[in-house]
Amino acid sequence: FIVRPFLDPIPSLPGLYTSIGFSIFAFMATLHLVPALGPTFVKADLKGRDLLKVYATPIPESLGLVCASVYILALILFIPFAFSDSLSMGSTQTPEGIFVSEFPHSRLSVYLSSLLSLLMATILGFLDDVFDIRWRHKLPIPIIASIPLLMVYFAEGGNTHIVVPLPLRFLLGSLVNLGPLYYLYMSLLSTFATNSINILAGINGSEVSQALIIAISVILNDLLYLPWPIGFHLPVHLLGSKAEVEFGGVWSAGMAYGSKELVERHLFSLYFMLPLVAVCSGFMYHNWYPARAFPGDTLCYVTGMAFAVVGIQAHFSKTLLLFFLPQIFNFVLSCPQLFGLVPCPRHRVPRYVLHHHLTLSLSDRMDGWTRFDADTNLLHPSKAILMKPPSKLAATVLRILSILKLVDLTVHPSGVILETTNLTILNFFLVRLGPMNEKRLVQVLMCCQIGGSVLAFSVRYGLAGLVYDG
Ligand code: UD1
Ligand code: MG
Repeated sequence: FIVRPFLDPIPSLPGLYTSIGFSIFAFMATLHLVPALGPTFVKADLKGRDLLKVYATPIPESLGLVCASVYILALILFIPFAFSDSLSMGSTQTPEGIFVSEFPHSRLSVYLSSLLSLLMATILGFLDDVFDIRWRHKLPIPIIASIPLLMVYFAEGGNTHIVVPLPLRFLLGSLVNLGPLYYLYMSLLSTFATNSINILAGINGSEVSQALIIAISVILNDLLYLPWPIGFHLPVHLLGSKAEVEFGGVWSAGMAYGSKELVERHLFSLYFMLPLVAVCSGFMYHNWYPARAFPGDTLCYVTGMAFAVVGIQAHFSKTLLLFFLPQIFNFVLSCPQLFGLVPCPRHRVPRYVLHHHLTLSLSDRMDGWTRFDADTNLLHPSKAILMKPPSKLAATVLRILSILKLVDLTVHPSGVILETTNLTILNFFLVRLGPMNEKRLVQVLMCCQIGGSVLAFSVRYGLAGLVYDG
């Protein structure tokens, strides 16, 4: 680190301090409201059985609605503070005598369209909790919910170019305009972000811990772009990476591109991520093993949409995707089950019983039901039963996955595949690392998420220099 004092005046960031204050309130509100409202949710039949416990006490479900409400309320109350620097702006008179306000309307529309998308995600998630919407119906909804975001991105003159990696430049040139394809990519990003957390779920603390770690990673990334009182110089230049990697170097280095705009975008991202970290940490306290509240699909959808919103509006969607490495792995692994190639039971969460599961009724086994193993308290990978011999394609896919040690197959002596472990990252951990208890499994998941973020930062700021020039 080279510490270098700033030469330029440092802009003050009052909005940021207010946002931190709001986040502290949001944390305390969630911490208090989740247990206080739990019984009300149970009364409204919003409850679920903890699949991996002996007790059948109903656990209040979709408490993500409380998180989403506190989160969105905090964001709404924060609006005047986000624009506090512009409130005193007057208007100018054009030569024709018309008064034009100097207020940054484009920033306001970015903020408001983001709120709209978050509200839509909340409604969708809650409807899913109440009605269990089918996969094919719920997949396209976030795409529609992202239209306001994309329109604002367009109105802002959003960039649809991508920088071509060095090895491909001789073919494509240094910049390629993806045009409408870029909008397609961004709308798919919102579907991916909302659903990918939901399908990596089912053990206490899994959903909320993923959201929490991704949000903290986004915050760390945003902090790199703020004008700090002292400039830190990260030695990533060794790999030829961009100068923007400098802590606080944004304002002082006098860089060629709109550095003030860059700071504003990352401030916007912080305004959305700080309260998210707050509600997630407050909720995590109650969702941690043994869970006293379940997030429901509402939390998965709202957090996912919040990430899509900041990734798109603050223009770092590719960096954001890097923070989703475990979710990408889980999604790709899940594809054969999600798209019907391999049977997909209602629940794919790991289970307890290893040897005795034949004692369960067939319909319970098909549903992925489990029974507590009081002797060991260890979880094993859950299995999908193949009721009829798999198609050639499915058998090939399963065999390849098995060679890659991603699944364990039960094969009849005749060679027909009878069962496969469910295609999720949680079962994969158990296949590779052996049985472990629920708390340990969620800790492994969290370590994997943190490891993914560390890798993401090194790829973004280290390796990027090898394939892109500065
Ligand atoms: C997704 C998964 C499913 C997984 C489920 C668990 C896919 C395609 N779907 O379905 O495999 O089983 O999430 O959330 O991957 N639950 C617990 N402990 C927890 C959290 C949830 O036992 O810590 C159980 C409760 O019974 C709860 C239910 O899971 O009622 C919630 O399931 P839901 O969110 O409705 O399932 P999906 O999102 O449809
Ligand atoms: Mg769910």
